[in-house]
Amino acid sequence: MTIRRAAVRLMAPESIALKTAVGLKRSRCQPACQAITRSLRHSSTTAAAQSPWANFTQAPPDPIIGLTEAYQNDDFPQKVNVGVGAYRDDSGMPFVLPVVRQVEKEITAEELDHEYSGIAGCPSFVDLAMKFAYGEDCVPLLEGRIAGVQTLSGTGGLRVFGEVLNSFGHTEIHIPNPSWGNHVPIFRNAGLDVKTYSYYNKENSSLDFEGMIADIKNIPEGKCILLHVCAHNPTGMDPQIDQWKEISSVVKEKKLLPFFDCAYQGFASGDARIDAASLRLFVEDGHKVALVQSFSKNMGLYGQRVGALSVVADSQEEAQRVLSQLKVHIRPSYSNPPRHGARIVQKILSDEQKTDAFVEQCSSMAGRINSMRATLKQTLEDLGSSRDWSHITKQIGMFAYSGLTKEEVTVLREKHHIYCTLDGRISMAGVTSKNVKYIAEAIHDVSK
Ligand SMILES: Cc1ncc(COP(=O)(O)O)c(C=O)c1O
Repeated sequence: MTIRRAAVRLMAPESIALKTAVGLKRSRCQPACQAITRSLRHSSTTAAAQSPWANFTQAPPDPIIGLTEAYQNDDFPQKVNVGVGAYRDDSGMPFVLPVVRQVEKEITAEELDHEYSGIAGCPSFVDLAMKFAYGEDCVPLLEGRIAGVQTLSGTGGLRVFGEVLNSFGHTEIHIPNPSWGNHVPIFRNAGLDVKTYSYYNKENSSLDFEGMIADIKNIPEGKCILLHVCAHNPTGMDPQIDQWKEISSVVKEKKLLPFFDCAYQGFASGDARIDAASLRLFVEDGHKVALVQSFSKNMGLYGQRVGALSVVADSQEEAQRVLSQLKVHIRPSYSNPPRHGARIVQKILSDEQKTDAFVEQCSSMAGRINSMRATLKQTLEDLGSSRDWSHITKQIGMFAYSGLTKEEVTVLREKHHIYCTLDGRISMAGVTSKNVKYIAEAIHDVSK
């Protein structure tokens, strides 16, 4: 073995020093290389023995991000990623809303500074976000008794409020079964015990409304219940408005604290007002709700991390106290939120024309997804599938909860190179007019 190869084998982390040595002429290099090799061999073994990280075990990959990595490593030309919940256009490409592009140009032209935000973020962004969710005519909003802060998108808001709940004596939170995969670790890390209530009936691929009501009735008084405002992730199955009314009255009876997660407003039906109906109904019913909003999906601002957390209080004075507690948790966590994404949302929602453009562009994303739902279902039927796929078009939002089993999903991945989560959740955003037939044929193949 040459000195060069032997040395390279020995010294991966210290390769810079080695490369310097092996870069020397061979005759001059030999003694120098041997000395470096000896010293590095010694230092790497002692370093390994003493490493403070030696007992760090390899964590499993995140179920969704890990899926994307597996997809990226697959060199099959027709591979499809329907795992991750990010919108794609009909050519399968990430989509930036034209109105977002337009306001970004305006922001650049304004040559703004990059000073810190306040702990609660940009106040005008927060006001506009709250109007967007609760509606301009929302009484607590008009009375100035909703405390609101900008957050690191939906995830950050969920975590902050989980911590706040925990610090005021809440020990548990009740989430639907199933729910977005990240809810459990977010709330566990915030110190809460995560419990579930029935939500979905896998047998008939529909909402298990009776089970849901029965379980909510069994939640101990005063506990926090998490509700998805619309486009429930992963099932895509939302209660109807009459069912929301019943949920509201049971939640009131049990004096539960409703905590709404709103990640898809405008993205579900294409109409932001309709999508916020559950939240608005609860507020009209007098609930002191908490709400987390995300602008990842509806404005396509995924990586900008734009969101808001708000809490409806009894009075302005109470809202101020609540706000102070939200800030107490934000300050030592990330100090203050980023500015760019909030500026984009603020510019769009403060201008009527831009808001109209946003609504139209968001609705066209929802429309494309809905047309893919119809095509997928129709193609499966045309292929002669004996299964009932009607839930695909009954569901709403980004995901189709296909009903495929773990085993079927595995074959879908291994044989057909189609990547979706093991619970059979298919991101409809990844389905395009080009790949829908391939996906339908593969689903038919694994579900025969
Ligand atoms: C139900 C639900 N809540 C919250 C989020 C958080 O998203 P983000 O942190 O990007 O706002 C998601 C994202 O997929 C979601 O589906």
